[in-house]
Amino acid sequence: MALGMLAFTGCQDSAPYRGQDARTTFIDSVLSTLTIEDKAGEMTQLTLDMVCVGKPYKLEEPHRIDTEKLEHVLVDLKVGSILNCGGHAYYPEKWHELIGSIQSAAARKPSGIPVLYGIDAIHGTTYTTGGVLGPQQIGLAATWDTALVRKFAENAAKEVLASGIPWDFSPVLDVARDPRWPRFWETFGESPRLVSDMGVAMVKGYQEGPSPIAACLKHYMGYSRPLSGKDRTPAWVPERQLREIFLPPFAAAIDAGAATVMVNSGETNGIPVHSDHHILTEILRDELGFEGLVVSDWEDIRYLFKRHKVAENYKDAIEMSIMAGIDMSMVPTDTLFPRLLAELVHEGRIPESRLDESVRRILGVKYDRGLFGTGGMPPPLEDYPEKASLEGAAARAALESITLLKNKGQHAIYPEQPILPIGGTGRILVTGPTANSVNALNGGWTGTWQGTDPTYNTPGAPTAVASMREVFGADRIAFSELGMDFDRTDIDAITRNLSPRNTQCAVVFLGEMPYTEFVGNVEDIELFDNQQNLVRAIHATGVPVIGVYVGGRPRTLYDIEAMFDAFVMAYLPGDYGARAIADVLSGAFNPSGRLPFTWPCHPSSHLTHDLKHTELEGDGFKPLFAFGDGLSYSSVNTTGINIISGATASIGDTVEVEVTLENVGNRSSTETIILFSQDRVASITPSVDELAAYKQVVVPAGATATITLAVPTSTLGFIGRDNTYTIEPGTFGLRIKGQETEFELIR
Ligand code: GLC
Repeated sequence: MALGMLAFTGCQDSAPYRGQDARTTFIDSVLSTLTIEDKAGEMTQLTLDMVCVGKPYKLEEPHRIDTEKLEHVLVDLKVGSILNCGGHAYYPEKWHELIGSIQSAAARKPSGIPVLYGIDAIHGTTYTTGGVLGPQQIGLAATWDTALVRKFAENAAKEVLASGIPWDFSPVLDVARDPRWPRFWETFGESPRLVSDMGVAMVKGYQEGPSPIAACLKHYMGYSRPLSGKDRTPAWVPERQLREIFLPPFAAAIDAGAATVMVNSGETNGIPVHSDHHILTEILRDELGFEGLVVSDWEDIRYLFKRHKVAENYKDAIEMSIMAGIDMSMVPTDTLFPRLLAELVHEGRIPESRLDESVRRILGVKYDRGLFGTGGMPPPLEDYPEKASLEGAAARAALESITLLKNKGQHAIYPEQPILPIGGTGRILVTGPTANSVNALNGGWTGTWQGTDPTYNTPGAPTAVASMREVFGADRIAFSELGMDFDRTDIDAITRNLSPRNTQCAVVFLGEMPYTEFVGNVEDIELFDNQQNLVRAIHATGVPVIGVYVGGRPRTLYDIEAMFDAFVMAYLPGDYGARAIADVLSGAFNPSGRLPFTWPCHPSSHLTHDLKHTELEGDGFKPLFAFGDGLSYSSVNTTGINIISGATASIGDTVEVEVTLENVGNRSSTETIILFSQDRVASITPSVDELAAYKQVVVPAGATATITLAVPTSTLGFIGRDNTYTIEPGTFGLRIKGQETEFELIR
């Protein structure tokens, strides 16, 4: 008997059977009532457009529920999950209206099971208008501050849940190895270790705060390494590298309790991951022990025959992906999936027990998110959290992300003073295509999918030039607006009367306008010619040039780098980014950001910090800026590296390294001490550097601090020739900036 009339409100408190886990008992009890069609419906996720008035991707405004469509999707098709907005962000009131209607209709499903609603809130609550928007992940990584990232995620969860949404398709745990890749900025950078630490922090923030939501690790795995650098194109990642570089962040976040995983849309080594039983079941389930929900990415089961050509038709594709290990299909705009899946079971091509596995995992997420107690209904609107109580972490993360990469010393007008922070009272020229755009500061997945429509920006969020005026005084700022397509005429107009006699410095805002996924594919990652010509022209006037790069991937600017008197990487700092940039340029905040990736000199020379010795030969590796680079307005000397736990360590020991920091400047400084290890000889070619440990400390002006970092020798291994984790005895180097030492690792 279906549970149809049993509306799931409050029934989650069902008394646990003696000796049985209440959760398992409850899930078993629900599962036992479901038909094959109910189960196929639970494994189906449709986009919001499918239940709204209008056509998918072209909804009628204002977006509103089409009750007929809703009844068909939920009551007839028994769909278990809905995702996304209808193309743009909504105020909380609208979310409550939409989700309230959906869950009311869900109670009329034959099973009565609430809908699990998912959203891409990837840098704060990106599809709730007026919500807190912090830095994108690439900027969060630049803080090297996992505690702050956890707090930021915890606050984001409060807003996402307050909109009535219990599932967030975040964090991205792809490891960014190629700056051409258009989702580089959605990652925590190039280091599997930093990505793992930041991913764990974000998962805990989402899932263990006062308003927990389900996290979703994506895009499992190998998605960030397409040979072409273009989104969703083939990646060749041999098993050893897959396990060395791309698997660790997912393993760490699964160990941290992540509830769900989303699958890589691409193909790895000729096999679309959505059809790869080895990756989706043998590694994810059998090796990592993941017991949560695995959701496909957008339309990727259908793409097995439409794009990848590994299936003759949709039905074959469904069989292939479900048997590989997919639990839920993000369909998201056709209604065939549940019917074809049910047919496959009736025909014996998929055993019902396979559906039971997936439905248990889906019901598990719904149970853990309390949907059976609340019926999935949004919390009372009056409980929506005060923005002021949430934005501190986002604003702080924006400040801590800003990375000062160059700051030349002498200054013509102000001798003995570096160009930054900007002192004096002279005129400041502000120009460049990202100087007056909130969209540029936020990037994709902001208000809209591509993040390009100002209509849906946070009301009142300042642009960079607005904050420059606020911090330096409007009368000091001379602003010359430029669009992305400015030309020589525009440049001439700016430089015609520009001179050190009338202008103290020029702050030039460079970079990119928002994009995500295939829309951001590029043929070349050199910085745009017009932006390079703008810098050349301003430099030629003799006015000092301060470059501020707003963007999520390191476009190359080798030819003009020498023309910058200072260069700041702002990444995609979010709604609080404009003020953060101005506060760093004014010196109100002492910059502490450190690059989470390697900034290449040339478009075709993108290597990473963990390159191999053969890549060092000749001029092989000369990054424009290195992984971990970042300056502050202090002068902190690092001296006296010393292994305090002895020059020999056994496998299983922890090596403790101390180093002395002396702040000889006149400002307190937050220093990130980054310790690299070097395996001198190994059975797999050792990397030149591996990130072994890092720690953040505040060193007051004039103070000296001795800091200890711990390196568990268990972390000094690698994936060996047999594709298993291997630790080999031998000599290991340890390096912090220019300070080096070494020790012997013995069995
Ligand atoms: C997209 C993205 C994925 C996102 C999903 C739902 O195609 O690849 O990151 O979570 O669809 O919007």
